[in-house]
Amino acid sequence: MKQLKIANIPGDGIGKEVVAAATDILKTVSEVHGGLKFEFTEFQWDCRYYLEHGAMMPEDGMERLSQFDGIFLGAVGDPNLVPDHVSLWGLLIKIRREFEQSINLRPAKVIKGIRSPLLNPKDFDIMVVRENSEGEYSSIGGSMYRGDDEIAIQNAVFSRKATERAMRFAFELAKKRNGHVTSATKSNGIIYSMPFWDRVFEDVAKDYPDIQADSQHIDALAAFFVTQPDRFDVIVASNLFGDILTDLGAAIMGSIGIAPAANINVNGKYPSMFEPVHGSAPDIAGKGVANPIGQIWTAKMMLDHFGEEELGSVLLNTIESVTNDGFLTRDIGGRHTTQDVTDEIIARLK
Ligand code: NAI
Ligand code: MG
Repeated sequence: MKQLKIANIPGDGIGKEVVAAATDILKTVSEVHGGLKFEFTEFQWDCRYYLEHGAMMPEDGMERLSQFDGIFLGAVGDPNLVPDHVSLWGLLIKIRREFEQSINLRPAKVIKGIRSPLLNPKDFDIMVVRENSEGEYSSIGGSMYRGDDEIAIQNAVFSRKATERAMRFAFELAKKRNGHVTSATKSNGIIYSMPFWDRVFEDVAKDYPDIQADSQHIDALAAFFVTQPDRFDVIVASNLFGDILTDLGAAIMGSIGIAPAANINVNGKYPSMFEPVHGSAPDIAGKGVANPIGQIWTAKMMLDHFGEEELGSVLLNTIESVTNDGFLTRDIGGRHTTQDVTDEIIARLK
């Protein structure tokens, strides 16, 4: 019997609703499967916790999380209670950075029964590998003066180590998917980091002679997401390019409420963290109408990560059978509640 210890952090807003839903589904999956058992421990670290304790997590929070096999997170942020940069940097980004979750994996694919805003989406199935530890999101830089003389400098950081790590991850993934790799670049405009990025890509591609590799400038790539998304398979992108591209990916799927993500620790020193792309959605929190599919698909990515790919496929197929039969929440044009969709998935899994 495989036993997995998972730290649940529902967080704020709809995070609490969708994590509860997806946890019930994971419990059902393990019941039906038999050979797998989840042991969930819940941590109520959210903006209310911050108001009480002056921090998003206790002092030994990271130490406690490090004891788990994985972290299953909902969403963090309640701007009415705590400024976003305080809550996100105190929990989500802290975990990503300190647990060296250097890869952010985000799929975008057509889901049966969910209408893409594209006129002709065909059957796109993309996996974006986003470098998650450096790039444009660096803390190197500064600002001087105020007013007319004000200047701000933000340095982008690209190391061979992190760049190569993301690219190898992308090629390994393409090998598993029998697919190909596209590198998101901008070496025609950004003249130091992006030619370097291209060079590393060429070097890594040499180690995978059987896998087709090409580079696209990020602006053209963004346009192709709208006009021909089916031409892509695995895309490797820097932190900023990947961030923007994956919101676009969520949009062409039909809703941010269905987009999943995984923050992967590749050196095995710390747990990985699984969290959907969407935030805490204060505008619909507490109403029971949040789309749980982003969190449930995230649970599928967690199953894949732990080598349970078969179960992961069963779960994604079940999600699609439910959406295809019209069990849809408001954000994707339906009238069903979070609970309706969850119950239907559970019933079909059984
Ligand atoms: P958001 O993703 O929470 O909401 C954007 C829009 O999408 C809203 O209209 C919302 O109702 C809708 N939406 C999002 N998820 C949905 C779902 N599952 N079902 C149905 N509709 C859904 O982004 P927003 O409003 O910019 O941020 C709200 C809070 O969440 C902020 O505090 C922000 O910092 C935080 N945030 C946290 C993230 C995380 O924990 N990973 C990611 C993005 C935002
Ligand atoms: Mg984003």
